[in-house]
Amino acid sequence: MSYETLLLEIQERVALVTLNRPQALNALNSQLVGELNQVLDRLEADPQIGCIVLTGSAKAFAAGADIKELADKCFPQIYHDDHFAQADRIAARRKPIIAAVAGYALGGGCELALMCDFIYAADNARFGLPEITLGVLPGIGGTQRLTRAIGRAKAMEMCLTGRMMEAAEAESAGLVARIFPRDRLLEETLKAAHAIAGKSLTAAMMIKECINRVDETSLSEGVRFERRVFHSVFATADQKEGMAAFIDKRAPRFTHR
Ligand code: CAA
Repeated sequence: MSYETLLLEIQERVALVTLNRPQALNALNSQLVGELNQVLDRLEADPQIGCIVLTGSAKAFAAGADIKELADKCFPQIYHDDHFAQADRIAARRKPIIAAVAGYALGGGCELALMCDFIYAADNARFGLPEITLGVLPGIGGTQRLTRAIGRAKAMEMCLTGRMMEAAEAESAGLVARIFPRDRLLEETLKAAHAIAGKSLTAAMMIKECINRVDETSLSEGVRFERRVFHSVFATADQKEGMAAFIDKRAPRFTHR
């Protein structure tokens, strides 16, 4: 299957998805969001894939929702269509997804990166939720996920002023896991993705499910949830293999079962 707004490359158990609308700095129009969901559906269904990397260009991860597509919409239309509901499906993915962000990650582009499991950024990355400058507000979860990622003070300041945050500040604020020189970003992200994909996919999915639970529950319920998931991992072949390999002093051969 080919896509007009994305490039897909498979490297062993890692899928590299590159947003590819350079003429609009990868702005998220309906076609791109639709194709991104199609490719993620396909990768999630493929047992050979253990980790997904989502990236953009050197200039822009994505410069937001497509303003030209949104400009003439009216309330009943956007409300009845439940515009951006399809984008929410990206956050509901179960396999690990890493965002490799170079250049602009603004508005919906920043929100897309926030929907991934963690962000690696190039030193030229710039994050922002500048919707207020367009007379609107973030609409793909930015007010919620940015606030959870970096706290109320910085999130409120960024959304109200619309300012951009550079990579170093994004790392110290906790938005970004690590920063790399621009020419090493993809290589380092793929290295991490291959490391994740070489582990037990079941354990990776369970870890993702438990960490995502943090946003939805109290500490005691979250710990209880984690404990039950921990108990259930003992039903997997990968738990037997991982622990046996440690005891035998050899590398594990996970079967993702
Ligand atoms: N939507 C549609 N087109 C966009 C776009 C967007 N979000 N961002 C950039 N483009 C287009 C520009 O219109 C331009 O196209 P033309 O050549 O046809 O004019 C092309 O991409 C290149 O952009 P610029 O010439 O503006 O490039 P620049 O280097 O001068 O500036 C930029 C880069 C600072 C990122 C600037 O493009 C910009 O400010 N973009 C908009 C950022 C923004 O406001 N994002 C929020 C969108 S709303 C949103 O996302 C809502 C939500 O929460 C879901």
